[in-house]
Amino acid sequence: MVYFDSHCHLNDEAFLPNLEEEISRCKEAGLKAMVCIGYDIESSKRAIEIAEKYPEVYAAIGVHPENRDGLELKDLDKIREMAAHPKVIAIGEIGLDYHWYKKPEEREPQKPWFIAQIALANELNLPVSIHAREATQDTMEILKAHPVKAGAVLHCYSGSPESLKEFAAMGLYFGFDGPITYKNAIAPKECVRICPEDRILVETDSPYLSPVPFRGKQNSPAHIPFIVSAMAELRGVSLEMMGRILQSNFERLFRVKL
Ligand code: NI
Repeated sequence: MVYFDSHCHLNDEAFLPNLEEEISRCKEAGLKAMVCIGYDIESSKRAIEIAEKYPEVYAAIGVHPENRDGLELKDLDKIREMAAHPKVIAIGEIGLDYHWYKKPEEREPQKPWFIAQIALANELNLPVSIHAREATQDTMEILKAHPVKAGAVLHCYSGSPESLKEFAAMGLYFGFDGPITYKNAIAPKECVRICPEDRILVETDSPYLSPVPFRGKQNSPAHIPFIVSAMAELRGVSLEMMGRILQSNFERLFRVKL
């Protein structure tokens, strides 16, 4: 059984003091790849440094909608330069966050960043990791007007099953995390059930979103097997089959051989 984590933040301060131990723990849990996701310039740099040090770690780099403070669009030139590193396999996480930002004047300025980083990913022929929180409609509109060239995943998919179908028709992948193990997570469970077989991915978003039985504690990529097993159960397939499906999707989108 081959495991991977398509979205984690090993570059988060929560992990930095014990990174060595954390990565050993992940390897013991069977993880063959972890995509460490940046959210601003500094965390993107750290993602690359970690990926340089550990063969199992890959980097995604980009500016998250919540982390634009003090940055200008021309700072994306730094992301472009950093993307030349061979361990950079995606641009992300980028997108729209309407959960924390309710006013139009807080939401509108997120859009040019999302669009510019889609263009950057297209220029570099890299896939994209998308953060879309309570912003389904605008995310869909932007992706229709600015299609991705090398694929994209809606990380921690939290939209409706109906929107999933629409995004799937546009060629997107869907990342599912710890919340699919929560009892009351009706919509995410349904999304796992109906997600096309060639579009489903697994991730932790650690240090956030711990699956049961670690809910409330710090999450780790080492918890991936708990999420995969919940997925297998929801889709009514064996653990091995679920593993093969996820592996081939991961290898296709990120062009990494596990
Ligand atoms: Ni994340």
